[in-house]
Amino acid sequence: MTSRQGPLVAVIMGSKSDWETMRQADEILGQFEIPHECRVLSAHRTPAETAQYVDQAESRGIEVIIAAAGGAAHLAGVCAAHTLLPVLGVPMESASLKGLDSLLSTVQMPGGIPVGTLAIGPAGARNAALLAVAILANSRPALRDKLRQFRKAQRDKVLRETLP
Ligand code: RP5
Repeated sequence: MTSRQGPLVAVIMGSKSDWETMRQADEILGQFEIPHECRVLSAHRTPAETAQYVDQAESRGIEVIIAAAGGAAHLAGVCAAHTLLPVLGVPMESASLKGLDSLLSTVQMPGGIPVGTLAIGPAGARNAALLAVAILANSRPALRDKLRQFRKAQRDKVLRETLP
């Protein structure tokens, strides 16, 4: 979703094969009507374009970057190295190691360049979007109200559950 305002959140992923998972971040951001853009950029297949995109993100009005990658997942760390914006990393589930490789590659940043790392796979995609919403909501009271409503709806749903 883009708008007249331009994107506030960038959702980037290392491969189109990550989209099936990352569409969940796209859906949450859409639900909160956050202007955002999603695109494929790879730390190793398109290193120059990735660096250029992230270098320009802040001047384009982007406030949060969500970076998803799998395997030797450098993308979030590379993004964080190129910007002062908060970078949220989502480790993709991988065929060989079920995402443990992606998780460790994303989360184990040496001190000095932080990446906020979420859970492996769809839960991480959803939570990255919700965390981006929470960051934006710090300075946007209307968005904060929406986030409060989201939590309330979630809570009410759990409390309505019945068991056989
Ligand atoms: C990473 O390699 C991507 O983020 C993806 O999760 C993984 C596999 O990519 P493909 O070989 O499916 O393009 O860079």
